[in-house]
Amino acid sequence: MLIAQISDLHIRPRGALAYGVSATNLFAEHAIHALLRLAPRPDCVLVSGDLTDCGLDEEYTLLQELFARLPMPVFAVPGNHDRREPFRRAFAGGGYLPAAGYLNFTVDRGPVRIVGLDSLVAGESHGALAPETLDFLAASLAARPEAPTLVMLHHPPFETGIGHMDAVRLFDGVAELGAIVARHPQVARILCGHVHRSIQTVFGGRACQIAPSVAHQVALDLQPDAPSCFVLEPPGFLLHAVTDGAVVTHAATTDRAPGPFPFILPADYPGKARRAEPDAGAI
Ligand SMILES: [Fe+2]
Repeated sequence: MLIAQISDLHIRPRGALAYGVSATNLFAEHAIHALLRLAPRPDCVLVSGDLTDCGLDEEYTLLQELFARLPMPVFAVPGNHDRREPFRRAFAGGGYLPAAGYLNFTVDRGPVRIVGLDSLVAGESHGALAPETLDFLAASLAARPEAPTLVMLHHPPFETGIGHMDAVRLFDGVAELGAIVARHPQVARILCGHVHRSIQTVFGGRACQIAPSVAHQVALDLQPDAPSCFVLEPPGFLLHAVTDGAVVTHAATTDRAPGPFPFILPADYPGKARRAEPDAGAI
């Protein structure tokens, strides 16, 4: 089973740029095309927050039009740039979100359980997991302990070394999240967004992975006083392959690259000649 993860689309009203620079709607088009090019086709697409830039109804409408072009279901958690009620209205048709309260969900896709957690704090950039959300996670994991499980939330629960992003990471509920996943070995990944870079660590004894943005990336600057800046590095996404309960994650770019070119070695290829030398000497 293949599960794609895209993150931080930051959709803007038609014709508008994010921060006056980033053509996020165009980047999202590239992401949709990248997903449609995948063969085999993913079973579903996960979105780890910041679907819109400002949480506007107009932005969610554009997002719905984009996602309607995907033949597979899309499951999303909100980020700090989203707003809870417009988000809920936009995805009500998916049938996986609750009618009220935090936007937590559990979906089962074949052998895999996916748990989405709402870490949005209205009006703030940092994240928090409410006691109800932590209880929801614990109950969802306890209900199907044999299922390899992906836990997704927008805000990462660890420090990345990028100071201005660490200042707005997940705060409330970090220790509790770590304790819950530590006692549930079926948790194969904790999947996040928010930092707009591909970053991995171990948290609560589990692999914890931040997806790159499909739009602009946060500058890789680990100096303590690094300014809050973004760069237009190639956007990317993650593809989680689940086989016999084991999860292998591939990182890919959304841009179409030259190739593929077959690994064919001509007879006079230097490397091929060097590898032949030991055999030649042994004769
Ligand atoms: Fe973001």
